[in-house]
Amino acid sequence: MPLELQEVNAETDFPALARSMFESYEDPPQKFFHAREDAIQEAADRLKLWHTHDPSSYWQKIVDTEKDGKIAGGALWNIHKENPFANPSHPKMTWFPDDSSREWVGQALANHSVPRARVAQRPHVYLFIIFTHPDYRRRGVGQQFMDWGIKEADKLGSEFFLDSTPYGRPLYEANGFVYVEENVNVPHREDPDETWKKLADKVGPFTFWWEL
Ligand SMILES: CC(C)(COP(=O)(O)OP(=O)(O)OC[C@H]1O[C@@H](n2cnc3c(N)ncnc32)[C@H](O)[C@@H]1OP(=O)(O)O)[C@@H](O)C(=O)NCCC(=O)NCCS
Repeated sequence: MPLELQEVNAETDFPALARSMFESYEDPPQKFFHAREDAIQEAADRLKLWHTHDPSSYWQKIVDTEKDGKIAGGALWNIHKENPFANPSHPKMTWFPDDSSREWVGQALANHSVPRARVAQRPHVYLFIIFTHPDYRRRGVGQQFMDWGIKEADKLGSEFFLDSTPYGRPLYEANGFVYVEENVNVPHREDPDETWKKLADKVGPFTFWWEL
């Protein structure tokens, strides 16, 4: 089978993984993903840093063994063995300029977790990121990740949660996930300045469907 599921090698894989992730989320375009060359480099470093500092983080890739291990897809899981919302933290988005754009992104990330924080205050498996590169769609790549996650949740006796983009829904619904609610993410500020308005216009509002 040329499309093989493997654990990511944190030392070597993030540059190619980040590039594949941007190419995947941008086809078709999704408002919250805008890649420039330097953003891809930055994302590779940041994904590696987050991964190596977060014990719940588990990254997988699917590689094309007939194409020198080209990345066909990736998935980031959080295997929460404890309640991840017990001690809420508000990390600073230091990779954004120190102006209202940093606050906008901080709010957007916090808003993203609100529905799950309401109901998943216990150990669980969370599918944070999943993508299949456009060259490999509808060849079972997403399904291989889902099969792994469903088995892992069963093994741990945990629930499995995810937030879905419009493009993720058919995959999840084919796997029996059910729609719970819509999370329309609109960061809010009483006195939006020009930077805030520009970012809000470029990226938001964006909507995820929250499923279990
Ligand atoms: C969502 C995504 C990961 C699906 O990956 P994929 O590898 O193409 O999916 P699979 O080939 O494993 O599909 C498995 C099943 O899911 C369903 N499915 C997946 N994509 C579908 C689509 N576009 N339309 C209808 N059904 C679809 C089908 O039932 C499919 O089985 P089938 O091909 O035998 O009919 C991919 O479209 C993607 O990367 N999208 C952009 C990034 C993104 O939005 N990710 C989701 C984040 S929540």
